[in-house]
Amino acid sequence: MVTAYDAPSARVVSEAGADLILVGDSVAMVVLGYDDTLQVTVNDMAHHTAAVARTKPEAHIVADLPWMSYHVSAEETVQNAALLIRAGAQSVKLEGGRKRLPMIERIRDAEIPVMGHIGLTPQSLHAMGGFKVQGRHAEAARRLVQAAKSLSHAGCYAIVLEGVPVQVAEMVTEAVEIPTIGIGAGPHCDGQVLVYHDLLGLETRLAAKFVRRYADLDTLATEAVRCFADDVRSGAFPSSRESYHLSEVELAALGI
Ligand code: KIV
Ligand code: NA
Repeated sequence: MVTAYDAPSARVVSEAGADLILVGDSVAMVVLGYDDTLQVTVNDMAHHTAAVARTKPEAHIVADLPWMSYHVSAEETVQNAALLIRAGAQSVKLEGGRKRLPMIERIRDAEIPVMGHIGLTPQSLHAMGGFKVQGRHAEAARRLVQAAKSLSHAGCYAIVLEGVPVQVAEMVTEAVEIPTIGIGAGPHCDGQVLVYHDLLGLETRLAAKFVRRYADLDTLATEAVRCFADDVRSGAFPSSRESYHLSEVELAALGI
């Protein structure tokens, strides 16, 4: 699974053969310039989901329910999940364990598949006291296994495991039938997810331990734009071949 937030990124992710495209609320940080995911609304998420969906990717589209879109009431939760489905998602993802079970049930009652997300849940930034690895102590590790079991029992079709020790991810993966998808959770998960901008080196602010940069597109892009600026200033761009010309007939008519 790889994130995408617009048509070009969705095309790349699907063409490259990913099974799932996540329209993540990480859009807040990597696209919209915010410091955390708490700033995006369900309308923002629908806007980006629709752009991804217009490319009609082969990959399954899962969209994040953002903070406060599934915390207030069951009615709002179902309406918000439906908004993302109507924008083109095929399922929704939400963060949290046991306390989310009633909302998961309501969303599933509306025939919308739900992906869970436990461990380091970025929407809990302030409650966690920062972006910190979760499940480092035996009791917390056991709670994560219980949370995964309850999500699986509630009918989630997969679970993202973020920011947990390798062994905890392995315990969770063994404890549930549904696939686990890891990020900063070691190699024992059934799948892995990375943020598009991290994977491609387009995001230069954050460099978490779990990010592997497969390209340095930020440097390539900066060099390309610098070349353009240099060519404009020197007069090397545009060339004759990159310009439109009047025909001989029209030139003659104009007396040029
Ligand atoms: O928003 C996001 O990109 C995510 C992934 C990191 C799992 O939720
Ligand atoms: Na997210």
